[in-house]
Amino acid sequence: MCGIVGYVGSQSALDVVMAGLKRLEYRGYDSAGVAVPADGGLATAKRAGKLVNLDKELSEHPLPAAATGIGHTRWATHGGPTDANAHPHLDNAGRVAVVHNGIIENFAPLRAELAERGHDLPSETDTEVVAHLLAEEFSGCADLAQAMRLVCRRLEGAFTLVAVHADAPDVVVGARRNSPLVVGVGEGEYFLASDVAAFIAHTRDAVELGQDQVVELSRDGVTVTGFDGTPADVRSYHVDWDASAAEKAGYASFMLKEIAEQPKAVADTLLGRVDGSGTLSLDEVRIPPGVLRETNKVVVIACGTAYHAGLIAKYAIEHWTRIPCEVELASEFRYRDPILDQQTLVVAISQSGETMDTLMALRHAREQGARVLAICNTNGSTIPRESDAVLYTHAGPEVAVASTKAFLTQLVACYLVALYLGQARGTKYGDEIRDVVRDLAGISGAVERVLGTMEPVRELARSLAHKDTVLFLGRHVGHPVALEGALKLKELAYMHAEGFAAGELKHGPIALIEEDLPVVVVAPSPRGRSVLHGKIVSNIQEIRARGARTVVIAEEGDEAVVPYADHLIRVPATPTLLQPLVATVPLQVFACELATARGNEVDQPRNLAKSVTVE
Ligand code: M6R
Repeated sequence: MCGIVGYVGSQSALDVVMAGLKRLEYRGYDSAGVAVPADGGLATAKRAGKLVNLDKELSEHPLPAAATGIGHTRWATHGGPTDANAHPHLDNAGRVAVVHNGIIENFAPLRAELAERGHDLPSETDTEVVAHLLAEEFSGCADLAQAMRLVCRRLEGAFTLVAVHADAPDVVVGARRNSPLVVGVGEGEYFLASDVAAFIAHTRDAVELGQDQVVELSRDGVTVTGFDGTPADVRSYHVDWDASAAEKAGYASFMLKEIAEQPKAVADTLLGRVDGSGTLSLDEVRIPPGVLRETNKVVVIACGTAYHAGLIAKYAIEHWTRIPCEVELASEFRYRDPILDQQTLVVAISQSGETMDTLMALRHAREQGARVLAICNTNGSTIPRESDAVLYTHAGPEVAVASTKAFLTQLVACYLVALYLGQARGTKYGDEIRDVVRDLAGISGAVERVLGTMEPVRELARSLAHKDTVLFLGRHVGHPVALEGALKLKELAYMHAEGFAAGELKHGPIALIEEDLPVVVVAPSPRGRSVLHGKIVSNIQEIRARGARTVVIAEEGDEAVVPYADHLIRVPATPTLLQPLVATVPLQVFACELATARGNEVDQPRNLAKSVTVE
């Protein structure tokens, strides 16, 4: 939440910062602002609303040229999305400007203290106190990095801060605790950003910042210290995708592009992870096989769409390894005193690697002695850095707020983890692993085929755009798919949508069924005369008898559902456990099209931000 950019170099800082903010707008779009040191002072501009408002302001009232600058795109926490609450925030003399991501939990006493010393704090934000404290500390030491260290030691909560000072015009200083901040290293120019996407057009060389560190950028280079001033060890890395991966590439939205990229994302996530003998080699999983053999419980923690991937992982992990697996919303996990020990493997799933709920849950798990394996799409982010091991998904950058390709690759990673555990424990052998991996490899083509048959789904979505409610039903792994279909529709179309386990229908939800209510049903495979399939056919008949308009997602060749489906969406036949990889795709397309038909902006749904970096 909130996107931050800082720049020191020889280009126009404003151009670099504005282009960076454009790429970070997915992190929040309540307001945007910039500040540059110029003419012995600071020049700033900020506007409520999307970046386009700031752009307009800057074209009407240009700021002076500068080679140092900072910028911010906001997801509001403290104070509404107004010009006054927009970042950057300044001290009363207008000498220091600061941008912030996170929540400063002790801002109220700090604010009272500053007010007592005569400071005027006109905004409603928690951030403003930092500008005032920095100004005070800078007046004592004339060193912005030192001033930042002194201020950070007084702050509680989660924060990334980036600041400039009129009296140190060639310096940008940043600090991080719990929220993301990466350094970009170019030729004689340096960048700070919440995400590498902001500077990927300039450099692919990045430096990870650790917890409680302060970084100073100047034309001479980058200096990183702890909050106590001791020099810090940092990890440099090369970003393995380029600027074109974060462009729309001719698609009307990032979401459409990311849906279309799913076959490749799935294939890339599998690449090189199994050898000819069927042995999985997950090099990044640095937990020794001996330790994995001892594992007697798996707990999956995640939020939102990643949580739905976790629900599906449970079926695979328990089936293939016979280890009990619990799946828990990360936001609930640490508050219920979960039972964890050294034999518990916690799997933390996160696209961004920055979700605060998941991060706090994994810290709790490690404090209790459990080992944590992260499944993550973002190299160098906090969650993999704080885990014992990581399995990266290779979806490439996901920009649209609604998660699509990340979800499919999270599923692939979960299947790989389940097989790997099975391999370590001896419940899965080379030939079986090879078979599943071969099935998984075939899924990429199956997803491609699904994508080629989506026109009727789009038509259906448009025809349902006026509806108030859509329900989703599924059984077994189809249940999390139903939950995911409902989540997509809620966040994109702002409709009432709910997912249910179809078996629960008669325990209450069936009362919701009324004439012409659209109900999407994810039907399991009928092969092997599956009991599950028979049950869902009965469920479809039950809701149809009560007037529901049934939309059935069913495997090719499943004729039993045909008489009861008002709309039939075919997906290729797959092994049951892998069906979510194909069955989810029509639901993504459905939600995207329906939201578009309602006039909503699918890449930036209201009230949301892509990375939820506050609890
Ligand atoms: O970055 P993460 O995977 O940790 O994010 C978790 C959720 O915030 C995320 O999946 C969210 O639910 C998406 N907007 C759903 O489309």
